[in-house]
Amino acid sequence: MCGWPLLLLWALLSGAAAGGSGRALPHHTVLDPQGEYWLSWGPRGGRLAFRLEVRTAGYVGFGFSPTGAMAAADIVVGGVAQGRPYLQDYFTNANRELKKDAQQDYHLEYAMENSTHTIIEFTRELHTCDINDKSITESTVRVIWAYHHEDVGEAGPKYHDSNRGTKSLRLLNHETSKVLPTVVPYFDLVNQDVPIPNKGTTYWCQMFKIPVFQEKHHVIKVEPVIQRGHESLVHHILLYQCSSSFNDSILDYGHECYHPNMPDAFLTCETVIFAWAIGGEGFSYPPHVGLSLGTPLDPRYVLLEVHYDNPTYKEGLIDNSGLRLFHTTDIRKYDAGVIEAGLWVSLFHTIPPGMPEFRSEGHCTLECLEEALEAEKPSGIHVFAVLLHAHLAGRGIRLRHFRKGEEMRLLAYDDDFDFNFQEFQYLKEEQTILPGDNLITECRYNTKDRARMTWGGLSTRNEMCLSYLLYYPRINLTRCASIPDIMEQLQFIGVKEIYRPVTVL
Ligand SMILES: *[C@@H]1O[C@H](CO)[C@@H](O)[C@H](O)[C@H]1NC(C)=O
Ligand SMILES: *[C@@H]1O[C@H](CO)[C@@H](O)[C@H](O)[C@H]1NC(C)=O
Ligand SMILES: *[C@@H]1O[C@H](CO)[C@@H](O)[C@H](O)[C@H]1NC(C)=O
Repeated sequence: MCGWPLLLLWALLSGAAAGGSGRALPHHTVLDPQGEYWLSWGPRGGRLAFRLEVRTAGYVGFGFSPTGAMAAADIVVGGVAQGRPYLQDYFTNANRELKKDAQQDYHLEYAMENSTHTIIEFTRELHTCDINDKSITESTVRVIWAYHHEDVGEAGPKYHDSNRGTKSLRLLNHETSKVLPTVVPYFDLVNQDVPIPNKGTTYWCQMFKIPVFQEKHHVIKVEPVIQRGHESLVHHILLYQCSSSFNDSILDYGHECYHPNMPDAFLTCETVIFAWAIGGEGFSYPPHVGLSLGTPLDPRYVLLEVHYDNPTYKEGLIDNSGLRLFHTTDIRKYDAGVIEAGLWVSLFHTIPPGMPEFRSEGHCTLECLEEALEAEKPSGIHVFAVLLHAHLAGRGIRLRHFRKGEEMRLLAYDDDFDFNFQEFQYLKEEQTILPGDNLITECRYNTKDRARMTWGGLSTRNEMCLSYLLYYPRINLTRCASIPDIMEQLQFIGVKEIYRPVTVL
């Protein structure tokens, strides 16, 4: 124990400048709407390091929960009391009772407190082999947070009341947003004065025109541009490529997405070319790859979809957030492409009501891939990032990869999918797709709270089962999806003939 006062003294002297142990953590995000609770994290020596910086002189709580609620969670509570730092591993049972964990798996690395703030830095193993702890994987995690103005006393932490919340994050993010070597020109695709309704969830869609370039450019990095103070309001941003056969009249209006009055032009914007979600700092293409602009194959019109999260139903919010695209004429070796793989979005995708675990799968078949690859890139394409996509009933998605019938390593997975948190996941290593390979996107849904059928479709109450593969070099294949054959089921229930074909979007 005699090491602590010294550590604290050092911290008090140097903490204000360094804001922590001085060792930089690559990822950070704000967890609460008021900007009082900041989280930073990153790998450190085989473990994961966390730094909590909170506007309180009392205790600070942090944890991992299966649902985002307090039940059955893995929790750590720390602070500085009378000049001494403390950190305790807790867990909650199904009745939300907080209990001290007999096995301490959180290791205090640094602590600092001044009259207004507490900073706690700790590490833990990804897998602690303690049934009361949650393993940290590449799947989405619901982190939970809380704080109190008093430190933990004899009776344990006092109830935090409304100073608490949850946020979905991906902690094993292989992305390291690279600092650009020189000043690189950019353009912004940013909303203008979007009035945010006073409701929990809003999806706002706005079309933009890509600047007209006289020669080929490469986008090498995309960053979020978030209006100051709106860090927790802007939840995720998707950028789609739209049909090029428009004129600029479509640029004049933004509208709520998935709305019956949404302009038809929005429906042509199907291929995701970029995705950002809260907690992400930006996306750098690998050093040999760029997103091409300025050639006839490249996007001319794009749709920006911004998800606004307004849980306290604040009124009168006006937002001006979006994306910044850094581009260069210093063309890299390869053009990036995006393949949409999975289940074709149509009414043939059916999910019965009341199901705790229903699976759908979409095939990017050997034949489909082989045709595109043989013609253009017999040596294959290299996947470096994947976005997994379903809607509100989605609970888990896996992108499986087969070569000559044998299963390879999963390209990507998320066993705790959260619709409200979607971003491209960098693969740990690039993976090659060769002629002869096939892909299966496997989705798991929960429809226990639904009384009616769920169908494939664009609205968030309809479903999708898709993965978007970011790869190079670009080939002429943007979609590789399958349609379930439901004729046998229809015959089984007595349907003899279909007069009007079911819409295939
Ligand atoms: C306390 O520390 C925090 C975090 O480093 C800092 O932002 C704040 O200004 C400090 N407050 C005082 C009163 O020094
Ligand atoms: C632009 O497109 C709209 C709708 O497609 C059409 O009504 C309008 O006439 C077009 N304007 C020009 C200048 O081509
Ligand atoms: C890409 O493939 C489609 C369908 O096979 C074809 O119609 C189109 O012309 C091709 N485009 C290019 C640029 O090769």
